[in-house]
Amino acid sequence: MSGPPPQAWLNALLVLIEALQRGLLALWHALGLTGDSHGQPAWPWTWRVAGETLLIDLGLARQLGLTLCALAVAVLAVALALAWRRRRGVLLAAGALALVAAPWPSVSLLFVPAAPTSFHTSPARFSVDTIALGARVYAQHCAACHGTDGRGEGPLAASLAVWPPTLAGPLLARRADGELFWHVLAGMRDRHGQPTMPAFRDRLGDGEAWAVIDYMKALSAGSGSAGNWPVPLQLPEMAVRCAGAAPVALSAWRGGQRVRLVAVDGASALPFEDPRFLTVLVTADGRPPAQVPRFRAGCTAASAHAWQAVAAISGQAPARLAGTQLLADRAGWLRARGTPGRAWSDADLVCVSGPAAGSQRAPSPGADGLTALLLRMDDEPVRFVKGGFVH
Ligand code: HEC
Repeated sequence: MSGPPPQAWLNALLVLIEALQRGLLALWHALGLTGDSHGQPAWPWTWRVAGETLLIDLGLARQLGLTLCALAVAVLAVALALAWRRRRGVLLAAGALALVAAPWPSVSLLFVPAAPTSFHTSPARFSVDTIALGARVYAQHCAACHGTDGRGEGPLAASLAVWPPTLAGPLLARRADGELFWHVLAGMRDRHGQPTMPAFRDRLGDGEAWAVIDYMKALSAGSGSAGNWPVPLQLPEMAVRCAGAAPVALSAWRGGQRVRLVAVDGASALPFEDPRFLTVLVTADGRPPAQVPRFRAGCTAASAHAWQAVAAISGQAPARLAGTQLLADRAGWLRARGTPGRAWSDADLVCVSGPAAGSQRAPSPGADGLTALLLRMDDEPVRFVKGGFVH
């Protein structure tokens, strides 16, 4: 998983740069200087600021930050000079000095190629239904090259000039969603203009292309090595039904609480209710298990796709999913995966963020595995920068 910038100033710089670029795009669109692409304002330039480079090249980020400060000083000096005639000479000189002294960053490092959809976001929420639709698209159109597990070893892979990248690595976390979307629909070419990845714009609608991106993220979690997911995942949206009431959207119902998803079949033991999180049972057919006493586990996922989506995220065959649990933190990030028949421990964390990423912490004295896990989830919130965009 791409770690968050540890420095607050870098985070602020990334947020500022994204806001400036989005602001410019909105202005251009409002002025009629750019049209729409796939239903959202089209980025009119072939370059954008490489937020992802700033994240790893602190020297460049510092140069850019200082240059932006110098620009602000210069603008302020000019504004003051207009208002305050007697000091005009000094103020303009100060503004010019700021510009000359600024450590202008190298243009070739600062910018990367952009697509018209670089700043697009999926119009649909990440949900069990989009994951299921994406799974169908992936099996039909992508698995032959990228492999059913997404590791880039499908049956056609060896015959290609360029080996398909593995989706189990950091690739999906590095790219902006809008650029993945563009690459799927428009295809990709190598430096000599030869096609490497085919274009799917004639075969897939926009909704299918966004859905296959959702599925690839779920797949990357399921195929990633145990320990740390390459892409942090949100708790997927799904309809839940509680005690015979009409189904409600999980996001509307959880209200910032932690959520535990538990896959159960007729044979598995039902989990006990735990006041530290909301429990949602996931069944293969989207119906509550017949024998659930109402007080034990609140609600059941009402979507039949939930089983398949949880299986993809957990990296389990659907037939072997029963007993698997997923835990989401208060901010809605999936953080831990429980193995059937084993007590929770630190080793179940799948999404670790911040300076402690990848490390095992000594358990707090006296706390059981689950308590220690929940404390750690709360202590280390996920801050995720994707394609240089802060989420
Ligand atoms: C004919 C084989 C083939 C098929 C079919 C195929 N891909 Fe690819 N894909 C590739 C190759 C090769 C690359 C690497 C291209 C490159 O780096 O120039 C790639 C790259 C990618 C990337 C990385 C893009 C990036 O930004 O670097 C994604 C994501 C992707 N494919 C998704 C898909 C999806 C989704 C489908 C199905 C709708 C699909 N691919 C179908 C061969 C294929």
